[in-house]
Amino acid sequence: MSTNNLQLRLKQETSELHSKAEQHPLMQSFIAGTFKHSHLLRFLVNLLPVYQVVEQRLLGNNIYLYQQFDMKRSGFIQMDIDDIVRDHEWSYPVVFDVTKKWVTNSWNKPIELLKADLYVRWLADFYGGRILSKSQAPYNSMYKSDTPAETISIIRSVLDLPVLPESATEDEIIQEAKNFFQYHLDLFDAIYAD
Ligand code: HEM
Repeated sequence: MSTNNLQLRLKQETSELHSKAEQHPLMQSFIAGTFKHSHLLRFLVNLLPVYQVVEQRLLGNNIYLYQQFDMKRSGFIQMDIDDIVRDHEWSYPVVFDVTKKWVTNSWNKPIELLKADLYVRWLADFYGGRILSKSQAPYNSMYKSDTPAETISIIRSVLDLPVLPESATEDEIIQEAKNFFQYHLDLFDAIYAD
């Protein structure tokens, strides 16, 4: 595993927020398998555009990354959304304002800051997601991966690339990762409200 300065700092400086996210009642209901399917659907519908912006702007910029099948998560998420909607004969829930705000900002922010999104969201899937994959069944396509260890090392190799100084600083990427954790906490509260 790589241990460059950015990754070490990301881990250390977001560990408190990670604990809060992990301990949120929504996440605890996912771990226990007691979650409401309506909560999972809201979770997925909100995260879908969050993934799409990173896939299109950051990964789409690099043909090697874009061709790595497991790096593109939005297609798997769409599969779970379609399955839940079909099985329950529900319509698609709305995207919350907190997501609209996050995604609008993500389309416009310096591309280097998307490394924060890649770190938080993709590693959440490949670490915590390993645990959630079992309890979220059958709606667990979002955690599907043929090569999880290889994909983690690809994610970490992107985080290892030097930060383009004209785009962002290391401090700004770390602050963005904190903001992204906070976005998740706000989203979890909104989902869990009813
Ligand atoms: C459902 C609850 C969750 C569980 C059980 C869980 C569990 C884990 C575990 C076991 C690791 C590996 C820790 C290590 O190597 O030291 C990890 C890493 C990570 N998780 Fe979670 N997690 C959860 C939720 C989340 C959420 C909601 C996010 C973000 C929104 C998140 C983001 C991350 C990140 C970014 C890492 C990588 C840390 C690093 O190596 O720098 N996790 N998680």
